[in-house]
Amino acid sequence: MSYAKALRCRKCGREYPLEAMNLCDFCLSPLDVTYDYQQVAKVLTRENLDNAPLSMWRYRDLLPTDGNEVDLGTGYTPLVKAGNLGRRLGLDQLYIKNDCLTPTYSFKDRVVSVAMTKALEFGFETVACASTGNLAASVAAHAAKANLRACVFVPSDLELGKLVSAAIYNPTLVTVEGSYDDTNRLCAQLLQKYKWGFININLRPYYAEGSKTLAFEICQQLGWRAPDCVVSPAASGLLFTRIWKGLQEFSMLGLVGQVNTHMFVTQAAGSSPIVRAYEAGSVHINPVKPDTIARSIAIGNPADGYYALMVARQSGGGACAVTDDEAISGVKLLAETEGIFTEPAGGVVIGSLAKLAAQGIIKKDDLVVALITGAGPRTQEILTGIVKAYRVQPTTESVAEVLGASVK
Ligand SMILES: Cc1ncc(COP(=O)(O)O)c(C=O)c1O
Ligand SMILES: [Zn+2]
Repeated sequence: MSYAKALRCRKCGREYPLEAMNLCDFCLSPLDVTYDYQQVAKVLTRENLDNAPLSMWRYRDLLPTDGNEVDLGTGYTPLVKAGNLGRRLGLDQLYIKNDCLTPTYSFKDRVVSVAMTKALEFGFETVACASTGNLAASVAAHAAKANLRACVFVPSDLELGKLVSAAIYNPTLVTVEGSYDDTNRLCAQLLQKYKWGFININLRPYYAEGSKTLAFEICQQLGWRAPDCVVSPAASGLLFTRIWKGLQEFSMLGLVGQVNTHMFVTQAAGSSPIVRAYEAGSVHINPVKPDTIARSIAIGNPADGYYALMVARQSGGGACAVTDDEAISGVKLLAETEGIFTEPAGGVVIGSLAKLAAQGIIKKDDLVVALITGAGPRTQEILTGIVKAYRVQPTTESVAEVLGASVK
């Protein structure tokens, strides 16, 4: 049984039944799932949650599904105390939420698990998505598990690793000659033609809810408190806004105290419409043409950009963009200090975190959680010249020779 009540327009407040739709008929603003929080409060306690299975579905009372989840085992990813990285950046309480460790190696499994469950409930036979890479893999994998047909659309210049990661689940894979924004526009048009469940279009309100579980897990893993600062990547901006919504829900239900979390949104400089608007003190997101190696977050016209901007401002957080070189340095720094290999989106987060700490915007004593939302091995082409290996004969003398006398 679900405590979800309705879809509600974010702007005019009109309510709609829980159907496969994402925009208000009246003002075309996005729709969000609302819940009967009074009922949720009766069943959701810290004690129950502490004894629940180690999966994102432990938070099902705050998710919009009726059961029969399409679950590949997503969730409860490690929240790692990042002592080494913290020392390098001058942060005493730094944590990494390592969401590379999901079934298809990105946080998208959270959102897709929820949306795919709804797709089954709604009776769709085909599910589809417009993707910058990670979503395609996750949709294809969950569709395989749910026995649904998947049709996934990605830009044709996607990294090979990302293409393979989607193709292995045998979806109908369509590469579009254009950017992600072109791909997304095409999918919105296809929705008029085909009766498909587009995971991030007509199923978007449900998809969005999956991201909240990241916030829930972080609070629970911190011993039932919200962090002082969250540093998150943004593409469409949806994840960022849902981390905030998750923190608010936990606070409202008394599971954590008042939320004073400063929310920091990060983007690659070559695709940073949200950060630019923040820095310009504007409320308008001006679309850009992305040009960055951080392809997974390269969205030039972010659907939830305005709302992400508002969260950054209202929470007393901020916004930061880094160059591709800084993002690559971030990827390396995280790997060398904490043993976590992220894709460029994570490099953007670490590069931005380094800047924000150096500028004193994020402070030494702040309890900071940096979100690492996708794994590195599928985007290897960004890392050139890092393989420096010693070649030896299989003898101890040969090893001693190349390592030199100084090595003990
Ligand atoms: C690795 C990774 N991190 C973050 C994001 C941002 O997601 P959102 O569109 O919700 O801002 C994406 C989106 O594709 C992603 O692939
Ligand atoms: Zn409306």
